[in-house]
Amino acid sequence: MTIDITQQPGTTRSSGPVIEVRDLRVWYGTTRGAIRAVDGVSIQLALGETLGLVGESGCGKSTLGRGLMGLLPEGAKRDGEVLFQGDDILQMSTKEGHALRGSELGMIFQEPMTRLNPLMRISQHFEETIRQHEPGLSKAEARERALETLRLMGIPPTRYRCYPHEFSGGMRQRLMIALALVLRPAFVVADEPTTALDVLVEAQIVQILNDLRNSFDTALLLITHNLGIVAEACDRVAVMYAGRIVEQGTVREVFGDPRHPYTRELLRSTISLSTTGLNFIPGAPPDLVDPPAGCRFHPRCPNAMKVCADQDPIVMPAHAAGNVECWLSGPDDQVPPGGSDRLEQQEFGVADEA
Ligand SMILES: Nc1ncnc2c1ncn2[C@@H]1O[C@H](COP(=O)(O)OP(=O)(O)O)[C@@H](O)[C@H]1O
Ligand SMILES: [Mg+2]
Repeated sequence: MTIDITQQPGTTRSSGPVIEVRDLRVWYGTTRGAIRAVDGVSIQLALGETLGLVGESGCGKSTLGRGLMGLLPEGAKRDGEVLFQGDDILQMSTKEGHALRGSELGMIFQEPMTRLNPLMRISQHFEETIRQHEPGLSKAEARERALETLRLMGIPPTRYRCYPHEFSGGMRQRLMIALALVLRPAFVVADEPTTALDVLVEAQIVQILNDLRNSFDTALLLITHNLGIVAEACDRVAVMYAGRIVEQGTVREVFGDPRHPYTRELLRSTISLSTTGLNFIPGAPPDLVDPPAGCRFHPRCPNAMKVCADQDPIVMPAHAAGNVECWLSGPDDQVPPGGSDRLEQQEFGVADEA
C-alpha cells in the first residue's frame, strides 16, 4: 500500500473500525523458551472511542500497545493481523510504517523526559514533527497548528520557545500528548501516561484525554493499572490476563457486572475507602514461557472447576457487545462429566504473595 503524506489528515476517514486486531500473537525468544506476551488477542476501536486496557504488570499490555503501532522490539516474533483502516500495519515496509506513525498513529509514553530532546526548544520539536509529515505546510502554518494544539492542552503560547527542562512533570506529559496529537492521528496508544504523575496532575491529564474524542475524534487505547481512570475516561474496557483478553465490554457493564473471576478480583484489589486496606489477588501471575494448562487463571481462581484446569476456557458473548473467556459463563451441557466439580486449590505460600 502507499500512503499519501500530503493528504490533509482527517478528511478521508472511513466509518468502519479505525483499528482492528485479529488473533494477534507476539512472543520473545529467550534461552528458557518463548515468552508468549500476547497470545491470541482480538480487539477493535471505532473513531472517537476510548478503550481501556487493564491487567497486572507483566500480562502483555505494553507489548500489545506497541504491536498496534507496528513498533515491536527487535527479535520479537508475531502472527495475526493489525488492520489500520483495512491495511495490515504488520505487513508494511519500514518506510510506510514510519510515515503512518506520527501522521495517523501516535504513541504517548509513561516517561516524557526520555522522549523530549533537552537541547531542542518546544517550538523545534513541534515544527520538526509537523514539517516531516506535512512538508507542504509553511513555517507559519506549522506554528499555528502547534500553538493551537498546545492551547488545547492548556499550555500558553508564551511557553512555545522554552526548553523541556523549564516545564513541570505534568506539563511535560501534556507536551508529549500535544506532540502525539499535533498531526491529528486517527489512533493513539497511551501507555500508562499518568503513572509518573501526582494525583492532581493525573486528574488534569485524564480530563484532557477525556476531551480528546470531542476535539479530534481520535480513537485511543489507554493502558493503565488505575481502574479509576478507566471509569472516568474510557468507553469500553478490555481485561488482560497472561497474554489474553479475558473479558471485554463497556466500562459500565464490566465494572457493574463483572463476569470473569479475574475481573472481580481486580476490582476488589483497588483500594477500598471503607477498609483503607489494599486487597491483592493471591498467588502470582503465571510464567508466560510455560503458562498453566486450561484457563491460565485457574490456579488463582476462587471459583475454579475441574474443567478449568484441563481445557481452554470457553469464549462466550457477554455484556451488550463484549465477551468473556470462562467456563463459569458457559452452558452446563458443554462441560464434560465431572468437569463442574470444584477444583481443590493448593494453599498459596507467603513467598507467592510477595
Ligand atoms: N523486549 C523484551 N524481550 C523479552 N521479553 C520481554 C520484552 N518486553 C517484554 N517482555 C516480557 O513480556 C511479558 C509482557 O511484558 P509487557 O508487555 O511489558 O507487560 P505489561 O506492560 O503488562 O507490564 C513480560 O513477561 C516481560 O518480561
Ligand atoms: Mg507496560
